[in-house]
Amino acid sequence: MTRELLFEKLWKNYTDQNPSVQKVYNSFTELNETVLNDHIAFRTFNDPRMNISVLEKPFLEAGYVEKGQYNFEAKKLFAKHYEVPGKPEEPKVFISQLLVEEFSEELQKLIKERINSINNITYQNKDLIFKGNVWGKPSYTVYNRLREESEYAAWLYVYGFCSNHFTVSINSLKTLNSIEKVNQHLKDKGFKMNTSGGEIKGTKEELLQQSSIMAEKVQIEFTEGTYEIPACYYEFAIRYEDKTGKLYNGFIAKSADKIFESTNFYKK
Ligand code: NI
Repeated sequence: MTRELLFEKLWKNYTDQNPSVQKVYNSFTELNETVLNDHIAFRTFNDPRMNISVLEKPFLEAGYVEKGQYNFEAKKLFAKHYEVPGKPEEPKVFISQLLVEEFSEELQKLIKERINSINNITYQNKDLIFKGNVWGKPSYTVYNRLREESEYAAWLYVYGFCSNHFTVSINSLKTLNSIEKVNQHLKDKGFKMNTSGGEIKGTKEELLQQSSIMAEKVQIEFTEGTYEIPACYYEFAIRYEDKTGKLYNGFIAKSADKIFESTNFYKK
């Protein structure tokens, strides 16, 4: 599948599931801004049936190559990022995986039960990254039990395989050309910012600054009934040039660590 088609399909799934992200996008285009995408991100379990090596396949086939690796010790995650060589303007891809064996026996059992509940053929499908929740109705009790140890695990248990966020490249904006202006614009429109570690993650010196809005809450059907929980979010990133004049293209683990919290459960 071409990169163009990949991103088109992912964007459609993302906006269908999270109506508010289209509103965010439109709030920029209404100001005559051109919205380019800095990166998208996926989450998965480190099970060999669906780990990073599985989810990266469609991107490798579309011309992406691995460019960086990241460890998140507190959240027990490992991640890689990918770029299209020679095309720094194309969106990067960030894939993280939960290190399941580092959690309690109970969490491991709950995750394994869900993963094992379907045929392995599903995981071998090339379209897995578009499939979302492949496991059927989740349990609200299990969702909340997983949250006690890992908000990431709970989110993944419910939503499965989809782009967890898209990211507006602030570098491509003409009027809202700083992260401070973008954040103010979002707050004026009534969006709730992720304030974990401060509204702005990273510094100019680190060559990458990021912010995000908290994931929109959507109605999910659980085996126990319908409950409203956070889905996907929108991120905003501005990149700076290094001493050689080259735009920084990597990620900062301690900033990403806080951005992950954009899907944490929250009270309205
Ligand atoms: Ni991101």
